[in-house]
Amino acid sequence: MSYQPLKGQKALVTGASSGIGAGVALSLAAAGADVLVNYASSLAGAQKVVDQIKELGANAIAVKADVSKEDDVKAMFDEMLGTFGAIDILVNNAGLQQDAPFTEMTLAQWNTVLGINLTGMFLCTQLAVRAMIKRGIPPGSRCAGKVICMSSVHEVIPWAGHANYAASKGGVKLFMQTLAQELAPQKIRINSIGPGAIQTPINRAAWDTPEALASLLKLIPYGRIGIPEDIGNATVWLASDAADYVNGQTIFVDGGMTLYPEFADGG
Ligand code: BGC
Repeated sequence: MSYQPLKGQKALVTGASSGIGAGVALSLAAAGADVLVNYASSLAGAQKVVDQIKELGANAIAVKADVSKEDDVKAMFDEMLGTFGAIDILVNNAGLQQDAPFTEMTLAQWNTVLGINLTGMFLCTQLAVRAMIKRGIPPGSRCAGKVICMSSVHEVIPWAGHANYAASKGGVKLFMQTLAQELAPQKIRINSIGPGAIQTPINRAAWDTPEALASLLKLIPYGRIGIPEDIGNATVWLASDAADYVNGQTIFVDGGMTLYPEFADGG
């Protein structure tokens, strides 16, 4: 059996039927956690993740919810607490892009992206934190709960053509830091992960031809695209007691994308 720092803990991962969320759910399960696998539309994807988690020896359920809708989120947390009895770890991962030049961006594109990427974090985090405070610090853990927000390198890197997405991730940064400050006395830790380019459906156009990949790699000093497991590994560490003194931080997991790579031979 591998190292299991999260043995017996209960985790909820939003947007876990594919991409980074699926990778994170599997890494948490490999580290010993039981996982609620949230999905918005792909039951088949979520079910596959649930099956893989069970093969790892952990418990899992798939629950449909649109994280931007209060009633959906409430029903999902009722299932979480009804099935697992507690929540130790919330991973606010659900997110999407609806890209458009700013002059053409519709209000619907703006609202959808802000709704899922930012309001979804508000709704899920509020219910998680209330349950964590009510339950308190469980035996065997150093804190009452951990919240991990999936941000992006675009919480610091401006991104033309993606005003809605970049605004949502900039919002995640101060949402996370403010809650970290506010909830630390209750022994809840809140941090973000800022992934760079991770090979998932959200950015398929950036890696699915050799030309696109070559152009993407110019932005990544470490010379490879990321995989969901890179983010899963960071999530396990942040959720574990090994990171007990880490609060209010964004850990960039990006192969160096935030290091201004164009300055390596310029400037
Ligand atoms: C975006 C991806 C993009 C990556 C690096 C992520 O937040 O969702 O589409 O490839 O940032 O730019």
